[in-house]
Amino acid sequence: MSLIKEVKKKRELSGLPDSIVQRAVQKSGGEVKGARALLRKYFGVFLTNKVLKAKGDEKEMLENHMSSKKRNYEEFYKEIFSPRDDSGGPKDIKGIHSVIDLGCGANGFSYGKIKEELGSVDYVGIEAAGQLVDGMNKYFEEKMFLARAECMDLFEFEKIVDVLKRQNKDRCVFLFQVVDALENLERDFSKKFITEISKECEWIVVSLPTESLGGRKKFTVQRKWIVDYLEENFSVKKDFKKDGERILVVKVKK
Ligand SMILES: C[S@@+](CC[C@H](N)C(=O)[O-])C[C@H]1O[C@@H](n2cnc3c(N)ncnc32)[C@H](O)[C@@H]1O
Repeated sequence: MSLIKEVKKKRELSGLPDSIVQRAVQKSGGEVKGARALLRKYFGVFLTNKVLKAKGDEKEMLENHMSSKKRNYEEFYKEIFSPRDDSGGPKDIKGIHSVIDLGCGANGFSYGKIKEELGSVDYVGIEAAGQLVDGMNKYFEEKMFLARAECMDLFEFEKIVDVLKRQNKDRCVFLFQVVDALENLERDFSKKFITEISKECEWIVVSLPTESLGGRKKFTVQRKWIVDYLEENFSVKKDFKKDGERILVVKVKK
């Protein structure tokens, strides 16, 4: 049996794309236990039993995932998409036809709230945890939402760009709390990643945690480099802090 199959025998790791498991196997020098430990470190924290079962209603699902549970989604999307005084904000934002949510976690379960702000936009959630993807797709079907989730590896870059290319303009990419995951592969990878995806989208909303996952430790000065990079290369329309995250709404200059 291949090492990838062996690693994926564990239920919580069984839904991950092979490319992610392969990288963990390589990093651990071909050791199954080491590879599993790595994957648990990066993904396990989000893949609790409640999340893996993925059977609750939207409120429960969002509350079960480490990243979404602290958000008041109504206020969250309102603040991101609401009108503001500065030019270029609201009218443009209302022109969004697709949302592409990269490393979406359980965020697809908030589609109803996105719809309240933007109308029936076409939503695509990209997520490594296959169990979550299945749960979201089932939910979208039941609700008859114009939405789908795909189990993919964000590091398979060309495939992500292809997804973006197929979506209708204006396209808004969500990068909620995924910068750290991108940096795990290679330092500064997120800058390269954002540079590439910005060629195929009109808006990017980035969120960065301002507290540790448990909510106890507050980060002080940090991730300045990514904020600087966004400010230098794009037009930052909003920058605010809310419920343990810093959110930047960015318009891609074309
Ligand atoms: C901190 S969580 C954020 C979830 C969601 N964006 C949110 O803010 O509610 C990071 C998510 O990225 C996913 N992820 C990490 N690396 C990934 C990769 N290489 N490909 C796809 N998804 C990945 C994880 O499974 C996890 O659900």
